[in-house]
Amino acid sequence: TKGAAMVTAVASRVQAQRKQIDRVLALFQLTREQLLGVREKMRIELEYGLKKKTHALATVKMLPTYVYGMPDGTEKGKFLALDLGGTNFRVLLVKIRSGWRSVRMYNKIFAIPLEIMQGTGEELFDHIVQCIADFLDYMGLKGAQLPLGFTFSFPCRQTCIDKGTLVGWTKGFKATDCEGEDVVDMLRDAIKRRNEFDLDIVAIVNDTVGTMMTCGYEDPNCEIGLIAGTGSNVCYMEEMRNIELVEGDEGRMCINTEWGGFGDNGCIDDICTQYDKEVDEGSLNPGKQRYEKMTSGMYLGEIVRQILIDLTRQGLLFRGQISERLRTRGIFETKFLSQIESDRLALLQVRRILQQLGLDSTCEDSIIVKEVCGAVSRRAAQLCGAGMAAIVEKRREDQGLEHFKVTVGVDGTLYKLHPHFSRILQETVRELAPKCDVTFMLSEDGSGKGAALITAVAKRLQMQGKE
Ligand code: GLC
Repeated sequence: TKGAAMVTAVASRVQAQRKQIDRVLALFQLTREQLLGVREKMRIELEYGLKKKTHALATVKMLPTYVYGMPDGTEKGKFLALDLGGTNFRVLLVKIRSGWRSVRMYNKIFAIPLEIMQGTGEELFDHIVQCIADFLDYMGLKGAQLPLGFTFSFPCRQTCIDKGTLVGWTKGFKATDCEGEDVVDMLRDAIKRRNEFDLDIVAIVNDTVGTMMTCGYEDPNCEIGLIAGTGSNVCYMEEMRNIELVEGDEGRMCINTEWGGFGDNGCIDDICTQYDKEVDEGSLNPGKQRYEKMTSGMYLGEIVRQILIDLTRQGLLFRGQISERLRTRGIFETKFLSQIESDRLALLQVRRILQQLGLDSTCEDSIIVKEVCGAVSRRAAQLCGAGMAAIVEKRREDQGLEHFKVTVGVDGTLYKLHPHFSRILQETVRELAPKCDVTFMLSEDGSGKGAALITAVAKRLQMQGKE
């Protein structure tokens, strides 16, 4: 009977621990009502951003892009593209053949060391120009004066297609003396400082817009671009008459929503957890990009880490020992989360991944870690879906349609690598916007190809203007 008593004691301890873990996981399980609430609040913020009166204080900035339409297939030529702000910095050469809708690309990835990302603006742009020089050398293109499209994946206030004032850095960037400056000017100045070649900078493009363009090249129903990667953002085609910040009522223009800033006024604090707050406070931009911090690759792993620290502190994980590794920021990259959550993976392999990360786990530990990852990424996909539902519903209502069929061009590591994110996102949109028929189309390299297409269109208009 002594043995039996011990067994009961162990069983009830296990049960109590399970309860504690479930209590934490429950914080990430959103009800349908909560998701509908997010959809409604997002809708309000979208309208605020578009209206003159409320724009200045709006958290979702709704930035005009001066992109008026999709490519029509007549674009052609050779273009350079820069892609800054995603997982990698790249320089590309893009060749577009007209009529065929065929695009060839050559690209090179360059590292941007942390001290440059967080150094001075001049250093950052000098480094970028150095990379362009290397690329031109490598391609045997020194001296060729090609039109360039600059995919710069940060919020920029634009007054035309080739000017963009940085509103504020997001994600991992923090270079000084850039905010409030025109980044196209900064690039031009850096090219002049180097005094080795000249480039014709034609367009500055957000990655969401490049993504939308790339898909729009193939699918005329595409009028929304989504990035679910290091950061989270959406652009879409809006009626000119609704964009109070830009003169004119005819036609449409693409709006870069910068929806990552949703929640910066506290409007979704009710669904924020203590872990979200910790991630925000430990970030480069506390108080900013609150929605992005709940939905994008750069932060999901950090939320997971905060939960694991807490569970360990409660003695529920890793034998109650918080290791140096677990204290290290950024250990759970998107690719690890994706591996851990893969259904094909046996628990032993999950343990091996944790081992690689320097976390010594038992079999029970690895089950819990996997559950935590699942809860965090599921909430991310649902929140992203609720935001998307707000956009497509707005477009449906604005056009007075009973039913709205639309394609969303998508890119980003979270969407592409994660085993469940895309499915849950789509399910949520279907659930929260039942009158819309939304197709998600993966964009093949939207940042590069899209920037080239936009550059091609802008260059054509520029030449027409000169005639
Ligand atoms: C951040 C940037 C935004 C970009 C997104 C995805 O939210 O502010 O401009 O589109 O990341 O890269």
